[in-house]
Amino acid sequence: MRPALRLRGRSQSNQARPPQSQFLRWPPSNKRVLRRAGIFFFISCAACHQPHGLGLEGLAPPLVESEWVLGSEQRLIRIALHGLRGPITVKGKPYQLEMPPMGVFEDEQIATVLTYVRREWGHAATPVASATVTKVREATAKREEPWTEAELLKVP
Ligand code: HEC
Repeated sequence: MRPALRLRGRSQSNQARPPQSQFLRWPPSNKRVLRRAGIFFFISCAACHQPHGLGLEGLAPPLVESEWVLGSEQRLIRIALHGLRGPITVKGKPYQLEMPPMGVFEDEQIATVLTYVRREWGHAATPVASATVTKVREATAKREEPWTEAELLKVP
């Protein structure tokens, strides 16, 4: 009995990757998942968009209450995968900057960070599923240039 119990205890504490479904509940019940999403945002987006998500003049527009964050996930995923080249209007303000592609990250990581920005700061947009990122990545596989606002607005 005892060795079997100990064995089970060990496998439960094994810090394996949380299943993808945990990212679809938000805030996730698992504090580790939430922390991971926050850390991932911090290392992959916050240098430009800032930890508070309000952006920085001349560097990046705000994510907080941005229509691009809260609107079509199809557009948001495209921005994350291939980047974005201005001009673009965010919350009524024009920007003429360039965001580099983030497609080097895995689908699940992109889904996690996009869900984070859609649910942080009082946001209540729907979570982004890893499978949706996979589909968009496949559909845009030939893309090399960053997106423009005009192109994104044609995407539903
Ligand atoms: C190297 C700086 C940089 C990084 C890193 C970066 N962005 Fe951006 N992002 C920008 C810039 C600059 C723009 C505006 C580009 C333009 O003028 O067309 C932008 C635009 C956006 C937009 C559309 C406009 C808005 O503000 O809503 C979204 C959404 C976005 N970024 C999300 C992200 C997410 C999510 C990450 C992390 C995975 C990220 N960005 C990482 C610089 C960056």
